[in-house]
Order: sequence, then C-alpha cells, then structure tokens
Amino acid sequence: MDTLAHYTNKTPLATADQLRDQIISTRLAYKRIEFLFDYNHTKYNYLNINGGPLLKIDEDQPDAPPIKPNGLQALDELIFLDDIDSERNHINELSQELLKAVKFIEKSQTVHELEDFKLIEAIRSGIVRVFTLGVTGFDTPGSVNAISESEESLRVMLEAFQRFEVGLEGLAKKEYKSVIKLFQQGINQLQVQSFEEFDRMSFLRESINPLYKGLRNFVVLNKINTKQFKNHGQNYATDNLFDSEFLDSDFYQELSYMPLDNPQSIALGKVLFYDPILSHNLKMSCATCHAPEKAFTDGLPTSESNVKGRFTKRNAPTLINATYAKRYFHDLRSANLERQIPHVFDNPEEFNLSFSEAIKRLQKSDKYLQLFEDAYDGISNKSDINQRSISNALAAYVNTLVSFDSPFDQYVRNGNNSYPA
Ligand code: HEC
Repeated sequence: MDTLAHYTNKTPLATADQLRDQIISTRLAYKRIEFLFDYNHTKYNYLNINGGPLLKIDEDQPDAPPIKPNGLQALDELIFLDDIDSERNHINELSQELLKAVKFIEKSQTVHELEDFKLIEAIRSGIVRVFTLGVTGFDTPGSVNAISESEESLRVMLEAFQRFEVGLEGLAKKEYKSVIKLFQQGINQLQVQSFEEFDRMSFLRESINPLYKGLRNFVVLNKINTKQFKNHGQNYATDNLFDSEFLDSDFYQELSYMPLDNPQSIALGKVLFYDPILSHNLKMSCATCHAPEKAFTDGLPTSESNVKGRFTKRNAPTLINATYAKRYFHDLRSANLERQIPHVFDNPEEFNLSFSEAIKRLQKSDKYLQLFEDAYDGISNKSDINQRSISNALAAYVNTLVSFDSPFDQYVRNGNNSYPA
C-alpha cells in the first residue's frame, strides 16, 4: 500500500503502465493476507480495504450517507480506465485513504494466537472468496487479473494448512494428504491462458467443493475443537458451497422474541400469510402483494394500496431469501423479520389494522385458537394470541422461503450425477 500511495503521489507522474503494474502487485500482496484478514476484520475489510466499486450503505448505520466507491476494488477499476489521466487526483486520493486505513488497523492490532479451528475456518472462508469474488472477476473489475489472484490465494492457504503436517496419524494424516492434493489440483486448474477460457464448473466440482469438505473432515478426524465464530454468516458445519444450509439464517436475525424454526409456528404463519382476516377491509393478505406464483412479489411497479387504483410509493420485493438480510425495506428501517410485521399492520395503505383488533378477530376463530395454542402454548402467561406470536409466526413462515434447491444447486452438490435436462 505504501508503494501504491507513493506512486500515485509522485512527480513526475507515474506512467499508466507503472500504475497498473503497481496495483497488480499491491493486490497480490493483499491476497497473501486476505483470507486471515477478512476472517478477523470482515467489515473493516469490506468498508475500507478491499472496498468496492459501487456506492454502498453501512447497514449498521442506515441513516449515514452512502459510502463512495473506495479501496482496492475501486482502484483496480480506475487505474485500468482508458482515460486514466482524468482520474489521477481521484486515484491519488483513494490510495492515500487506503494507506491511512491500513496504518490504522496496523496500529490497533494486538498479537494473539490463532486457534486451530479459526485457521481452518479462515481457510474455508478464503476458499469461498476465491470462488465467489475471485474467479468470477468481481474483485478485479479493471485488471481482470482474477485467475492469478485466485492462484495466489490458494497457494498461501496451502502454505498455511501445511502447519498441520507435524504429528498426524491414521485417518487425519490421510485426509491431510488428500487436502494438500486438492489444493495442488486447484492451483493446476488455474494454469490457463485467459479469464474467459477458465472452466469454473470443473473447478467448483473437482477442487473447490471437495476442498471445502476435506477441510471439515480434517477438523473432525484431527479432533480439533470448534466453535462457530460469530461474525460470519457462513455456516461452517456444511460441506458444500451450494448446500441449502450454507448461510446461517440466525446470523442475519437479531432474534428478539422467539426462534423461527418451530414447525408449528411455521404452519400457523403460512395460514396467516394467506388470510385477509388481518386487513381492515378483509380483502388484503400478505400474499396480495407477495404472491407465490409471482415469486412472492405482485408484479407491479409499485404496490396497489387497500384503495383500488391508488398505489403505494414502493415496489414489493420478493420474499425469497429475504431472511438473509440484516435489515429490511428500501430505507433499512427494520432490523429483523419479526419487527418488520407491525409496519404492515400500522400502514394506512396496507393492513391498516391495530393488533388489538386483529387479536380480537383471531380469538373468535376456533381454528386459530387451536393453531396458536399448538405453536405457543405455555410460552406466554396471558393469551397465546398476541402481537409477538402473530409477528413470530409470520416471520417463521417468511424465514422458510429460500431458494437453494434449484437443479444447478443439486447438480453441484452431488459429485456424480449429470446435469438435469
Ligand atoms: C400492499 C402491499 C403489501 C402487503 C399487503 C404486504 N407487503 Fe410486504 N412489502 C410491500 C412493499 C411495497 C415493500 C417494500 C417497502 C419498503 O421498502 O419500504 C414490502 C416489503 C416487505 C419485506 C421486506 C423485504 C426486504 O427485503 O426488505 C418483507 C419481509 C415483507 N414485505 C413481508 C410482508 C408480510 C409478512 C406481509 C403480511 C403481514 C406483507 N409483507 C404485506 C408490500 C406489501
């Protein structure tokens, strides 16, 4: 980073080629620490170091102004522009900012021993980055130096893994050797002439997924103690990047009321979701605007309100995979799925019904009394039907709407089958 900041600031000006060579080597140097750095400082990395070429919002501070493109990704894009000269000041500014961000984190680091399970998790997380941000070219929008960067990442993770070599026995030793082989195979697959010709499907099926699985097997066979590192949305208990449980939905949910995986709550939530009993005029349900046959949208530019021909200001997004978000709505005003529900009830253009009225209606129905009792009996001392249980049930149903079982997912999950026709 030092050299990059120096280059962009010097007189006479560095040539375009010098700058390009420099960003390539700066990024390769970053690749040597990325898997560990990102694992420990995911958010700092995302906001300040690797950055991004697009405007982004910090979901923990939704009211703050959007963050401008910055960091290594933005520099990669700018330095490879044809018209690099018009961006000289900008490039210099971003390089100085990056240097500052690096110095800051350098100063605030304390040395601590990395537990074995964390090193393996960091490597597994690094493997995910290679496949998602690396070989796709996402990380390198200007240089498209994606294949060399991915190779560097795999090499450095292989080196880190070799620290486990000493003292292994039996099955753990066998698994260790198999993982080393898979790393080498992955590196070999990356020996291609161009970004375009790289066969990502074979890379995924033959190297990335087996590596991801092999590293987990190694943890088990070598009896390494694990505990989930809470900063990550990735569920390290899975074996495949396309496993339906690959993302840990609990990570995305600040659970304030009750768990979302109770089958009775889900069943109740499903009934409520399609029932217009919750709207003031008894004509609108969640499914009016989030219809399953339209991928849980309404197919309209903006949703129709409860008055025919009058439209709300916003578009109804799909609810598929909505659970994997830290915040909800265009303005991020809601922090989890349960707390999002009252916004629909309170909204004069949507349900426009108080919870006390909704509760009265539901209590008149034997069917609902039974369903609420099945799901919440004993949890609340008062009535089973209350704002919390209604919100929890609806959220529990929305939480099940995930899309990780496509023919593609099934194909890449299973090493032997052929692609469905
Ligand atoms: C009148 C149409 C309408 C109805 C009825 C409605 N929604 Fe929505 N929904 C919307 C619109 C429009 C948005 C986007 C609002 C925004 O961004 O401010 C939205 C956003 C959401 C989101 C946030 C998605 C995201 O990724 O940010 C969730 C979750 C959701 N609705 C669930 C529900 C549930 C559950 C119900 C029933 C209790 C419901 N909605 C009823 C129109 C509707």
